[in-house]
Amino acid sequence: MAERIDGRAIAAGLEDEVAEQVRALAARTGVTPGLAVVLVGRDPASEVYVAHKIKSCRKVGIRSFEHRLPENTTQDALLTLIARLNADPEVHGVLVQVPLPAHIDEGAVLDAIDPGKDVDGFHPVNVGRLSTGTGGLIPCTPLGVMKLIDTVIDDITGLDAVVIGKSNIVGKPIAMLLLEREATVTVTHIETKNLPDLCRKADIIVAAAGAPRLVKGWWVKPGAVIIDVGITRIPGENGKDRLVGDVAFDEVQHARAVTPVPGGVGPMTIACLLANTVQAAETALG
Ligand code: GUN
Repeated sequence: MAERIDGRAIAAGLEDEVAEQVRALAARTGVTPGLAVVLVGRDPASEVYVAHKIKSCRKVGIRSFEHRLPENTTQDALLTLIARLNADPEVHGVLVQVPLPAHIDEGAVLDAIDPGKDVDGFHPVNVGRLSTGTGGLIPCTPLGVMKLIDTVIDDITGLDAVVIGKSNIVGKPIAMLLLEREATVTVTHIETKNLPDLCRKADIIVAAAGAPRLVKGWWVKPGAVIIDVGITRIPGENGKDRLVGDVAFDEVQHARAVTPVPGGVGPMTIACLLANTVQAAETALG
């Protein structure tokens, strides 16, 4: 029976550590870390994420500054707000929830965030730092994935890892983090040939394709560790939606360990956002 990696419990432990860091920083410097969260428009999924982020800040003692802007906000107005937040000493982290409305150039907005406050790790400076292994802020989901792997594998060095999905915010940064730890990394995507064969050789599979139940039991080597980043809402039999991962969870019980969906990677993402906010504050305060 595969070990079920309990992301909720691991994230709760990390949040306790962050709360302690917040207390220690306040005691040392008199400053409480602050996170600005910017939401443009009324995308329902984004509303849920943002509410969750704000609530989690409160739990660990981070101040949050919520900026809700109407759907028709201009790019200039958004850039003006970001410039203000960049200059605000009470704000240590700036997060602009994506997707942004279609009339706004997302790249231009993310590039405008001060890299030192870029707690999502999306700014090209932080992307460059990650790919050269020179510090910086690391995207939250990839950071959470590594922390989950570290709970079940002592040493990643030399292991074969397959990352399914090449997105800028999940697949590519996870590949960089695994490479930095000297895993042998294969990144696959929609045009990849023989994905099952590649997976069958892997000691670690990170599935981040957004394709429900893509990874079948026969794709998985006995003893492999599987991290399921996928989360897709599908209609359930009882008329209520249910969340499904990229891995056929019931078929992979010969694995060494696997994350469930929900309750695996998801909770780690927010915990890592909080950790990044404290890291940004500590760096700013010296
Ligand atoms: N939208 C979906 N996930 C994320 C995230 O991690 N950060 C931001 N800023 N927007 C998102």
